[in-house]
Amino acid sequence: MSLERDLVSPDADGDERAIEAALRPKRLSEFIGQGRVREQLSLVLEGALRRGRPPDHVLMSGAPGLGKTTLAMIIAAELGAPLRLSSGPALERAGDLAAILSTLAEGEVLFIDEIHRMARPAEEMLYLAMEDFRVDIVVGKGPGATAIPLDIAPFTLVGATTRAGLLPAPLRDRFGFVAHMDFYTPEELEQVLYRSARLLGVTLPPDAAREIARRSRGTPRIANRLLRRVRDFSEVRAGGEVSRETAAAALNLYEVDAEGLDRLDRAVLGALLHKFGGGPVGLSTLAVAVGEEPETVEVVAEPFLVRQGLIARTPRGRVATAAAWTHLGLSPPPTAFGASPGGGV
Ligand SMILES: Nc1ncnc2c1ncn2[C@@H]1O[C@H](COP(=O)(O)OP(=O)(O)OP(=O)(O)O)[C@@H](O)[C@H]1O
Ligand SMILES: [Mg+2]
Repeated sequence: MSLERDLVSPDADGDERAIEAALRPKRLSEFIGQGRVREQLSLVLEGALRRGRPPDHVLMSGAPGLGKTTLAMIIAAELGAPLRLSSGPALERAGDLAAILSTLAEGEVLFIDEIHRMARPAEEMLYLAMEDFRVDIVVGKGPGATAIPLDIAPFTLVGATTRAGLLPAPLRDRFGFVAHMDFYTPEELEQVLYRSARLLGVTLPPDAAREIARRSRGTPRIANRLLRRVRDFSEVRAGGEVSRETAAAALNLYEVDAEGLDRLDRAVLGALLHKFGGGPVGLSTLAVAVGEEPETVEVVAEPFLVRQGLIARTPRGRVATAAAWTHLGLSPPPTAFGASPGGGV
């Protein structure tokens, strides 16, 4: 993937995860935005603390970079409980999960990231563990196999998923609390930026914060990343002083535009408008037009473009909305999707 793409990708690579750890809020009171989730969660946690029992299992669903891992760590911190980290892909066999469950301490928080990717046998073991704090260890094979029940310490499972729709209903139903994480407003992202700037020792004026927040695609991870690029630019080109101008110049240099669109996003929009008259056009045709794999266009560019109301998915293919024409500085044809009452496809 290109540098430009990485800059607004919602996913983090290894190096970035290390930097992120330093910027993670540690307590619920430091966690910015997601007001509803924060309030609901604080009630769940406080109730559990009062009763002196582990809280209900918690499922967090939301797009990459919105703070699921951060919240999982906060849950353990607020409970004063130890935290065990695992992930769906690491739980290939039931034995992998049994090894973890059987060594949990009482009240421990078990975090399973990407829980929708857990293998089936492990998932079934988890049902029983979540409900009855028990696992059945199967000994032997075939007709002679026996299940030996084993009690495990009461624990709290915290699951995270970017694809809640892929979670089987029996698993979803065993979570007492489901937190749906939304994209952040620009104002919330400004608060995230001020906090990160303070931790990084950067002075961030309000208009610069606004400029970065607006281009961050509703995602704290991207906001933090853009802040680091702006800091670098300001150090090298402007004697270390961050301003709205250096922020805009840095982000323009990295081809992140005023709405957070990058080069691929604009290429997709441009092709849709200039080569296909705004669509409808099929995904694979569109992908060929921008020289990318259909998968890249569908998974990387499209979700954001759809969320911004710039393109729409219709049964006949992808269609540019009136806003897309405007975004590229063109006037939308009267037939453009969403142009005026009576317009549309
Ligand atoms: N509410 C928030 N306040 C401040 N910083 C936040 C908030 N949410 C996320 N962040 C920051 O964004 C970065 C990414 O958050 P996190 O790793 O928790 O996302 P995630 O939802 O687990 O992503 P993924 O789906 O890729 O695992 C972290 O560095 C964290 O500091
Ligand atoms: Mg995570």
